[in-house]
Amino acid sequence: VISSSACANIALVKYWGKREPSLNLPETGSLSLTLDALRTTTELELIDGPADEMLLDGVRQTGRALERVSSFLEVARAECTDPALRRARARVVSNNSFPSAAGLASSASGFAALAVAANAAYRLGRDRTALSALARRGSGSAARSIFGGYVRMNSGAQPDGSDAAAHPIEGIKLELSAAIVVGKAEEKAVSSTDGMEHTRKTSPFHEAWVRQVERDLVAAEEALASSAIMRLSEIVEANCLAMHADAMAARPGVIYFSPLTLWAIERVRELRSVGTPVMFTVDAGPHVVAFAPPAEIGWIGAALAAHPGVDRIILSHAGGPATIEEF
Ligand code: PMV
Repeated sequence: VISSSACANIALVKYWGKREPSLNLPETGSLSLTLDALRTTTELELIDGPADEMLLDGVRQTGRALERVSSFLEVARAECTDPALRRARARVVSNNSFPSAAGLASSASGFAALAVAANAAYRLGRDRTALSALARRGSGSAARSIFGGYVRMNSGAQPDGSDAAAHPIEGIKLELSAAIVVGKAEEKAVSSTDGMEHTRKTSPFHEAWVRQVERDLVAAEEALASSAIMRLSEIVEANCLAMHADAMAARPGVIYFSPLTLWAIERVRELRSVGTPVMFTVDAGPHVVAFAPPAEIGWIGAALAAHPGVDRIILSHAGGPATIEEF
């Protein structure tokens, strides 16, 4: 049995658009922070059976969820050189340390953990960069979860996607932790895959978004390198709102914000207007994620809990890279 674990990540500069959907090739780069509190632990066992099996948080997966895992495992098997191993199917047992239904980037930690496990099980011998490109086949954001801390994803230029991989950004002194605002009313949002493809095809703002991301990446890396947290906050928030503006401009528009999202965004901006080093971002769902220095995140999280629609606040420090154990 192979046991692996990976943490989810939240993007400071977002990925929103694929240049090649079949290989999950992103149109642009992106930049994220890996988060310790959002972790998937996976056990993978090779079996003799006719098909892959998957249990997520104790629930047997079927239909589209299982197909997604199985076609990911097919990618690994296709490059496995041992004929006996290649025939073996996998029994995958995954557990999330956080509610998977809440749409909290569980595909990032899930496919990163599965990529390192499949790499070991099928003896692929991929290095970390190649593992990141493999995880990308499961979900674009999973490519970043192979690494810990601040991570930069490259869009790459190769048609086969071998250079569409992430790498850790070294030497950053600015430490950030996160407070994630989870609401009580969890409606099923449009998936990121569907939302970004619909946006790319129909939003009149999409070309402008793609150009802006490249500028935001440069500016965000500069702000991180110089620990300029207030400057970083402006870039991170503007980038998030531009992504959502792009999605809202799709036809029909995709709206991920809930009333609670807008309330929490306002709260973060109020706090910053009186000098608090805090910034918000929002992924393809209603949850606001506030980033602030570790010493400040506790009271900021408490301030963001002061709304009757809040179910819970998840606090997280930065997380490490995906890991593996064989026994
Ligand atoms: O790779 P996916 O399907 O999890 O898409 C990620 C999309 C966003 O979370 C909205 C942005 C990002 O870069 O993580």
